Amino acid sequence: MTQAIDLYAVMGNPIEHSLSPLIHQAFAKQCQQVINFEKRLVDNDHFPQAIQAFINEGGKGLSITLPFKQRAYNLVDEVNEFAQKARAVNNIIISQEKKLIGVNTDGIGLVNDIQNNLNVSLNNKNILIMGAGGAVRGALQPILNTQPKEIIIANRTVEKAELLALEFSKEGDVTGCGYQDLIGKRFDIIINGTAASIANELPPLPNQTIPPTLCYDMMYSKHGTPFLEWAKRQNTKQLADGIGMLIEQGAEIFFLWRGVKPDTAPLLKVYR
Ligand code: ATR
Repeated sequence: MTQAIDLYAVMGNPIEHSLSPLIHQAFAKQCQQVINFEKRLVDNDHFPQAIQAFINEGGKGLSITLPFKQRAYNLVDEVNEFAQKARAVNNIIISQEKKLIGVNTDGIGLVNDIQNNLNVSLNNKNILIMGAGGAVRGALQPILNTQPKEIIIANRTVEKAELLALEFSKEGDVTGCGYQDLIGKRFDIIINGTAASIANELPPLPNQTIPPTLCYDMMYSKHGTPFLEWAKRQNTKQLADGIGMLIEQGAEIFFLWRGVKPDTAPLLKVYR
């Protein structure tokens, strides 16, 4: 009897530009494994049904992208620590008993990219994170685990930054503020977790008097982003977009699904 090929998929809306199938097929090839990895466009009102259909087909795992990460968190049977803190799930493991285990590998993907690929340590650094939505919430715990000196969360809607900072304040020195409050402050590392780049906009950041070590945009774009253009003008030593985060988060879940940790370097070479 021939064995069925394990089925995986990424669900989102829109989905056509997702790189997840390419990334996971590259990992599978490198690890000499054979998997099916599909893109599934899911209607906004039919996310639970789409998951159920996938389980019925015998699917082994799912990647979840916008706008379903929070809904996936509420739908799964169990979550790991990072998903709990993020209140969002970006990948699901479907167990043999058809239990849904929700994980969040976005933050660890970001940290691995910064520390292992870009060789910038987060430990003991002054970090500015812009934005206070789901993307930033997902990144906070893994960043705090590296024990930075200080994290400042800046957001247009100041209360959101303050509340988010308060929620994580037991884990380290985290403060929330508005962009005005950043005047005169200097940061080693600036991370853009806002949705501004998607709209080709720049958050209202004051100029830096001393160049930051690293400016990182969680969004990826072949054409650069307004934030990375700003970072260039500040003479920032290193710039990166979120392609490495995407590849690294994929490697984390590939390991959980398949039991083998792929080498991300060949993919990074192609995409970065
Ligand atoms: P995500 O889940 O991708 O984080 P979100 O929860 O909608 O999306 O959060 C979007 C974040 O980007 C918010 O912090 C938002 O700021 P507000 O809370 O003040 O709305 C931020 N954002 C979006 N567009 C922005 C822009 N042009 N400049 C600065 N911040 C922006």
